[in-house]
Amino acid sequence: MKLSRTWLSAAAALMLAVPATAHAKDYTVGLLLPYSGVYAALGKEIDQGFELALQTRLGEMAGSKIEIVREDTEVKPPVGLAKTRKLILQDQVDVMVGIVSSGVLGAIRDFVHQSGTPLIVANAGNDAATGARCSKFITRVSFSNGQVNRPMGEWMFKKGIKKVYTLAPDYAAGHQMIETFSAAFKAAGGTIVGGEFTPFRTTKDFGPYLTKAKSASPDAIFVFYAGGEAISFVRQYASFGVADSVPLYGSGFLTSPLYVNAEGPAAKGVVTSLHYVPTIDSPENAAFVKAFSAAYGHAPSEYAVQGYDAGQALVEAVKSGATDRAALADALGKVRFTSPRGPVEIDPATNNIVQNIYIYETVQGDGTLTQKILDVAKAVRDPVSGCQK
Ligand code: BEZ
Repeated sequence: MKLSRTWLSAAAALMLAVPATAHAKDYTVGLLLPYSGVYAALGKEIDQGFELALQTRLGEMAGSKIEIVREDTEVKPPVGLAKTRKLILQDQVDVMVGIVSSGVLGAIRDFVHQSGTPLIVANAGNDAATGARCSKFITRVSFSNGQVNRPMGEWMFKKGIKKVYTLAPDYAAGHQMIETFSAAFKAAGGTIVGGEFTPFRTTKDFGPYLTKAKSASPDAIFVFYAGGEAISFVRQYASFGVADSVPLYGSGFLTSPLYVNAEGPAAKGVVTSLHYVPTIDSPENAAFVKAFSAAYGHAPSEYAVQGYDAGQALVEAVKSGATDRAALADALGKVRFTSPRGPVEIDPATNNIVQNIYIYETVQGDGTLTQKILDVAKAVRDPVSGCQK
């Protein structure tokens, strides 16, 4: 696939805002996303959100221009590492943005850290990247796998669910999402009656897994699936007749607004938890939904807001006067702003975002499926978990 290199500058907007300095620094950003493979739609949405933030706020950057160099990680850790090396060594980027898969983030972490290049993580929830393997060069503006799922463990038990069966793809994110959900659910008093990890990127038929889950007679099934796998899973959950007897819960990526309409009626009634839904009632979100929908023709998802906030974080860091990589990394670790998802800040102890987690049900809206917020866990902060930056 051919990827583009883009220059963004806002000369006109600049004249209205901050007077341009004579020698404003220009920045090269490496955008490292899956533009192909099972998470390609997620990568595209993050890219669009990121560009929208820069287009909207470039005028605040005192004459700086931004060059974006795109590379495709394909959701494969060795490919992600090769592309990271290329962006840092050959393109000499000032900062990198992106990474969707926890597996890819795990593979590039050491190279990023040793090179001293700031990385703004715009999706991958790998807990270790802001835990035991944290780095002062890695700042996450998306979520951590544990942060999204812990509140749901407690919430489900409070709603009377005592026995849960779990399913997720067999890679870092699948394991971490299930482990953190299960720990919280068990701490609240619940029991995990069974679970399985399905081969990542290659499972097309979830039938045997669903049959086994149903035969364990749980009160509910809890899963993590995203992208193309989420669409297949939710459709098959209905077509194998499991929906009639066992309710489905999960990480909110399961019923993301990006692809929930492709899942169709099977997604109705599914309850999940996430850091963003487009139905959040705030002026910041209303403005974001309007601008994103006008630019791209559909309502934004969590992936869009993650790209948008990666752009916002970069603008904030540049506005603070940071020019070299070390100063940028430092500034990124201190940003705080009001996001469409609510107030957010970076926790100085881990470089992970602190944010609200929304528990929502997918319901029928006006001609389209939509998200009804049932509960909010406010300002969720991860435990430090061995991070020493
Ligand atoms: C991950 O690998 O961390 C991930 C991928 C897609 C959605 C959420 C998390």
